[in-house]
Amino acid sequence: MNGSSKLLVQEVALRDGLQMEQVFVPTEEKIRLADALSGAGFSRIEVSSFVSPKAIPALRDAADVFAGITRRPGTIYVALVPNQKGAERALAAGADEINLVMSASETHNRANMGMTREASLAGFAAIVQAVRGSNVSVNASIATAFGCPFEGEQPIEKIEAIIDRYLRLGVTGITLADTTGMANPRQVAKTVRRALERMPAGALTLHFHDTRGLGLANVLAAWQAGAYRFDAALGGLGGCPFAPGASGNICTEDLVSMAHEMQLETGLDLAALIDLSRRLPSLIGHAVPGQVAKAGPPSRLHPKPGFAARSDGPRGIAD
Ligand code: COA
Ligand code: ZN
Repeated sequence: MNGSSKLLVQEVALRDGLQMEQVFVPTEEKIRLADALSGAGFSRIEVSSFVSPKAIPALRDAADVFAGITRRPGTIYVALVPNQKGAERALAAGADEINLVMSASETHNRANMGMTREASLAGFAAIVQAVRGSNVSVNASIATAFGCPFEGEQPIEKIEAIIDRYLRLGVTGITLADTTGMANPRQVAKTVRRALERMPAGALTLHFHDTRGLGLANVLAAWQAGAYRFDAALGGLGGCPFAPGASGNICTEDLVSMAHEMQLETGLDLAALIDLSRRLPSLIGHAVPGQVAKAGPPSRLHPKPGFAARSDGPRGIAD
């Protein structure tokens, strides 16, 4: 099956990317990065999360970041929210979209959110009611949708049941998240096909981590199954602090490079992304996993080596 001719990439480095970092990236640096990302063409940027500052100290400045960014017309600024208090804070900060998160796995939801999934869902119902009629849209994510580091694989029927619950609540988008990189392409294709029986592709986002090196393979499987919206983090930063062994999101510039090589439109400026990615190590104090920022895009050719004539061996064919 042929996929869509475009990919919609939502940049999550400022949220997923920074939430597990040991250093606190100064608020003004976060704002500068958000503005540079909107300048590179992102229509959707997850700016921060309104969670407990004790749980995620790296993002305790969420409201200040929202207050400082220069809003680019056409860009949707998203806030991750775990509960009603988070929703109130996100609305007060001027988020365009709230991204609610609950895990497929009861164990991971308790570890990550400190509550049962039913408690999460009850809170979400109240949040959706509260924002109804406003300009704020609500997306809902299913963390550990492709496997939980505590419980293992999550049955596809369980994912379908949560999708149905979310749709009944009235959310406008759903994200299936592979929190610790447990997904494989075959599973992804099947899950995406089943999800698209329930909602249009424009409402479905895939969120992959590259923990086991299958991030872009999973993107391709999802795209071939009809999905076209993907979360990705500049430099391949990211990871959930409440999931053992978590590591980075799929890398934005690697994804965008692949998309452009495949003639898929993203609306993004790859050179600008590479430039921004190369500045990340100075912000967070360590190297980042992305590949294209190191290698350069495939279009970057190297000077031809000078082949010196050798007198001690067979002569090559001239040029
Ligand atoms: N934003 C800021 N503070 C919050 C908050 C929010 N959204 N929700 C709760 N709090 C505060 C409460 O006011 C309370 O403060 P106090 O100790 O000063 O009285 C404290 O946190 C504890 O509140 P409680 O309702 O008992 O929450 P909890 O300690 O069980 O934590 C969550 C629940 C959801 C707030 C917390 O687990 C969390 O923030 N999880 C998010 C983890 C995350 O971001 N993971 C990665 C992304 S998926
Ligand atoms: Zn993630």
